[in-house]
Amino acid sequence: MENPNIDEAKRRAAAAAVKLVMPGMRLGLGTGSTAAQFITLLGARVAEGLDVICVPTSERTRAQAAALGIPLTAFEDIDELDLTIDGADEFDPELRLVKGGGGALWREKIVASASKQMVVITDASKAVTTLGKFPLPIEVSRFGMEATRRAIAKAAEATGCAGAVVPRKTASGEAFITDNGNYLVDCAFNAIGAPDDLAQRLSAIPGIVEHGLFIGLATAVIMAGAEDLKNFGHLE
Ligand code: 5RP
Repeated sequence: MENPNIDEAKRRAAAAAVKLVMPGMRLGLGTGSTAAQFITLLGARVAEGLDVICVPTSERTRAQAAALGIPLTAFEDIDELDLTIDGADEFDPELRLVKGGGGALWREKIVASASKQMVVITDASKAVTTLGKFPLPIEVSRFGMEATRRAIAKAAEATGCAGAVVPRKTASGEAFITDNGNYLVDCAFNAIGAPDDLAQRLSAIPGIVEHGLFIGLATAVIMAGAEDLKNFGHLE
């Protein structure tokens, strides 16, 4: 079960983020337990009459939002979003993120990239000085998976990282399949000293669909500590 203090911190960060939502906004909805808290609170405002249109970043998020009556689209009617609210597995002082713990990183990156603002909501456990303690998730094509794993290890080595590149499994031991029908690997690098360089090298590997380093995407982080809220970056 989730630690009740962390759960409460996630709820407070989500509550602060809901206040940023204005009538008529086009929103990106993230994935994970923190984003789910935001979606619950957003659903309550929609039930009171708030007019928004949202793009979900996973089938899980789509189902939650639809059940709450939140209007959804998959970019059919819009080309740009005003604001995306999402969680993260880690963020550093430059607001670089590791994402993908929930397996939704590709759609999360597409949605964040289409947004004027990406506000990350977290509890304090996600703040790090160096990314990488959380194993870096990478979505990979099923075809050529072993070659891609080797290419990832080589790219990592070139940036001073080392560690196992482990295919993700479900709780019942099956290969984890993303909403897009791909595999995921988790890279136990422990410390990513040069995230920008690693991100560029990973992006150049053909078998990688997308990696979980989000660089230059988050415009702000709302972090809930034990009692207080701290904002990093720029909140409009
Ligand atoms: C999903 C993600 C999540 O945002 C990340 O894993 C954080 O999840 P949580 O809010 O449950 O801690 O990247 O792909």
